[in-house]
Amino acid sequence: MKKIIICNWKLNGNKKFIKKYIKILKKNKKLYKNNKISISPPIIYMDYTNKLIKNTNISLTSQNVDINLKGSFTGEISAKMLKKINTKYIIIGHSERRLYHKEKNNILLKKIIITKKVNITPIICIGENINDYNLKISEKICKKQLKYFIKKKGIKIFENIIIAYEPIWSIGTGKNASIKHINKINKTIRKYINNKNKKIKNKFKIIYGGSVNKNNANKIFNLKNIDGLLIGKSSININEFLKIIKNINK
Ligand code: PGA
Repeated sequence: MKKIIICNWKLNGNKKFIKKYIKILKKNKKLYKNNKISISPPIIYMDYTNKLIKNTNISLTSQNVDINLKGSFTGEISAKMLKKINTKYIIIGHSERRLYHKEKNNILLKKIIITKKVNITPIICIGENINDYNLKISEKICKKQLKYFIKKKGIKIFENIIIAYEPIWSIGTGKNASIKHINKINKTIRKYINNKNKKIKNKFKIIYGGSVNKNNANKIFNLKNIDGLLIGKSSININEFLKIIKNINK
């Protein structure tokens, strides 16, 4: 099974940057022939990126989606529109959206449902903050975040989705979680969902994000419990990103 690498560019990039990035990525396709690479540019460049990645094995990820498919919702993006431009994944519940846009579980659940409805795979982000980490309650916090969705919609909500475990204190900070910690939390999440119902067993994926870089990517990526990576900062610089994909396939 090919592992996934999502490049979350957040609010960075422009057409010139994207054109060059994709050109270099295409040239180096041998490097990631055994992986699935997905680019998540700012929404305004999604269609542009879609055209550039045509006939490649690079896919497109959206950083956001609205809870409505159409109508009077100024400034929003519809899952249907994203589907039309070949969006494969949508990131939901990223800690930056939870924090700066006050997205709560009820909204996130609606986003998951609408994403699945148009056959796009949701990437649901969960993770503990620094206080939780220091209190050693990371596992409890992650389970609590998942529990809300299960309580509302049943375990089936996790079928064919991706869970991104991202310790908030590690996102964009350069502070690395230890391999031991990453492994432990991922095992806990997998066990927690698998134990809820046999039918769901491993019908979901778990990826990791938080200050992944060329030095730590190999160890994290090759953990047995990890199905891929969600990379922010280090995915923006193409040379750094190429080093990451080189390293993980060593
Ligand atoms: P980072 O971001 O790699 O810059 O820590 C990860 C993310 O926000 O998903």
